[in-house]
Amino acid sequence: MNILEAKNITFSYDDDSIILKNLSFHIKKGELISIVGGSGCGKSTILKILTGIEKNSQGNINTNDLSYMPQSDTLLPWRNILDNILLPAEIKKENLKKAKEKAITYLKRLELFDYAYNFPKDLSGGMKQRICFIRALINDNELLLLDEPFSALDSITREDLQKWLLKNLSLLKKSMIFITHDIDEAIFLSNRILVCSEKPISFFKEFNIPPNINSEQKLQLKKEILKAIKGEASYEKN
Ligand SMILES: Nc1ncnc2c1ncn2[C@@H]1O[C@H](COP(=O)(O)OP(=O)(O)OP(=O)(O)O)[C@@H](O)[C@H]1O
Ligand SMILES: [Mg+2]
Repeated sequence: MNILEAKNITFSYDDDSIILKNLSFHIKKGELISIVGGSGCGKSTILKILTGIEKNSQGNINTNDLSYMPQSDTLLPWRNILDNILLPAEIKKENLKKAKEKAITYLKRLELFDYAYNFPKDLSGGMKQRICFIRALINDNELLLLDEPFSALDSITREDLQKWLLKNLSLLKKSMIFITHDIDEAIFLSNRILVCSEKPISFFKEFNIPPNINSEQKLQLKKEILKAIKGEASYEKN
């Protein structure tokens, strides 16, 4: 069963530059997908179209409620950390007591509870990134859209969070679209990697990640993905 189906999506911010052209793709329930591709190719735009933030796309999108963590920090400066995390629950008029308990559990797990009543200005970039990540994770939506969620973190925190994310995704039975520039991260976290290799994006070059991939296979795959990002690979439109 598919949790998301996008058919023939065409989009441009203005008439001159088309970002997506007739792009179709789907995500199966439980799938963990990464999207990789050069800077400025349109990865964030794809997520904005899926969430409805960018409205003027042509084509069809079939999906349920999504949780979205944007690339830039979107914490409101006048709300404390806990109240920022609870904002989506407030907007959707969910049970706030339950949401607060959940938020506190996640803050403790990510060692940020000491900052629950501080304001965003008191936190580092990486801490704010983890707060936005918690905000995307705590609701009940099955599909998570994460736009470079770990880009501001040091490599040790990043590796810890990658492992923690994988464990929680399977516990919570979520599906995910994860944008990253880090191919190792994409291989570690995904079942399938979608590579944007041409402009405008009209298809993805797809790579399936075998469940118990060994280091030799990983290296080979990494090379092929890099080639595809640079548009050097010879492949058929799929
Ligand atoms: N609001 C906007 N108005 C006009 N053009 C935009 C807007 N947002 C993005 N663009 C342009 O659309 C293209 C795709 O941008 P997008 O942010 O989707 O790229 P990206 O693949 O996410 O890049 P990065 O890896 O650097 O985050 C870029 O050329 C960008 O300049
Ligand atoms: Mg982006």
